[in-house]
Amino acid sequence: MESLKVGICGLGTVGGGTFDVLTRNAEEIAARIGCRIQVSHIASRRAKPQYELSGLRFSEDVFAVCDDPDVDIVVELIGGTSLARELVSRAISRGKHVVTANKALIAEYGGQLFAEAVANKVTIAFEAAVAGGIPIIGALREGLAANRVHCLAGIINGTTNFILTEMRDKGRDFADVLKEAQALGYAEADPTFDIEGIDAAHKLVILASIAFGIPLQCDKVFNEGIGEIQPIDVHYASELGYNIKHLGLAVRRDQGVELRVHPTLVPKSQLIANVDGVMNAVLVKGDAVGATLYCGAGAGAEPTASSVIADIVHIARSVRNGRAPGVPHLGFANTQAANLPILPIEDIESSYYLRMSAEDKPGVLSQVCQVLSEAGISIEALVQREPQLNESQVPVILLTNIVRERDINSAIAKIHELESIHQQIVKIRLEALG
Ligand code: HSE
Repeated sequence: MESLKVGICGLGTVGGGTFDVLTRNAEEIAARIGCRIQVSHIASRRAKPQYELSGLRFSEDVFAVCDDPDVDIVVELIGGTSLARELVSRAISRGKHVVTANKALIAEYGGQLFAEAVANKVTIAFEAAVAGGIPIIGALREGLAANRVHCLAGIINGTTNFILTEMRDKGRDFADVLKEAQALGYAEADPTFDIEGIDAAHKLVILASIAFGIPLQCDKVFNEGIGEIQPIDVHYASELGYNIKHLGLAVRRDQGVELRVHPTLVPKSQLIANVDGVMNAVLVKGDAVGATLYCGAGAGAEPTASSVIADIVHIARSVRNGRAPGVPHLGFANTQAANLPILPIEDIESSYYLRMSAEDKPGVLSQVCQVLSEAGISIEALVQREPQLNESQVPVILLTNIVRERDINSAIAKIHELESIHQQIVKIRLEALG
């Protein structure tokens, strides 16, 4: 049986997982393609790893893999965007196909890299860049190819989902859960990428680009992390029938596309609201298929390796059949959708959870309701707790109907001006996803 040669750059969590799965499942994978996948070269900038590497080349210089004539597919797993970008460009210029799990690289520089790949008649594949082991890119490109996608909503960062779940279920401390996520290999090298939503924004940009055929536009995503979420909000949300999830949302509207990452109240009756721990899930709504949900491990060595290897298999099948795998979603470039603008956050439409601290005296609630009513905002639910002994302020929690963000912001500013409302008003978006 012939073989196709793979060079792996980076032997961290995902690199190690990829090597392990390729070795363990070599027979099945070869049978599926009709040829063997042989790891011929591994490069790691750290010291030589513990793996049994006999029969293959090891380098500390990752560029040696791109220059190796005995490598057909370069797998970039070093992360970051400077060295990785150079590496991928070099591999492409040497006529190698590239597989990467690097969402930041694709989200920020995908446009240029795809053009380089097309010019060199190779492909660049990145299934592992979004939602770890869930084959969501394949699903959007192939399984859902018939559809006009209306919207997608995803739990696309395992670390934040893990943290929110542990905080909700076990009342654990944020920092303590984060440390565990890092030890388990879920979190990014710089975990602020997870916590502040940057990682999820990168993934959302990639998904939206494939789903709607729009260019990758990293700088236009609205992004809010989970740092401000208080246990009291998790508690009230739950009492009202919602779980708080850190969602990436891409919504296609007539006037443009909403691209936003933020904590979101999701009704517990929705399957996605019950996807907990490090698991990821992506809900996609297409005009033909309706609502579909894809769920699985969003991070970790072998789930991510599963997607890396899926790309290797896809490329290997094309190569064996004498076809260039190409860079598929570039076909959108001249469609009407490609020119849709990304809407500013003030123009998005959502329902809202508001929590405010009100003086416990007659008429306060009616003043708040009047401000909302004058703004044309309807209250869908309202909770006010009795004051505890010696408390002069009480929490008031409201859920609104769907309104434009600029309208809720101006209503919040007016509520702030009321003398009986103290402290900041907490605002969390709510999506019924129905
Ligand atoms: N840090 C990422 C996460 C890893 O937590 O989801 C997978 O991209």
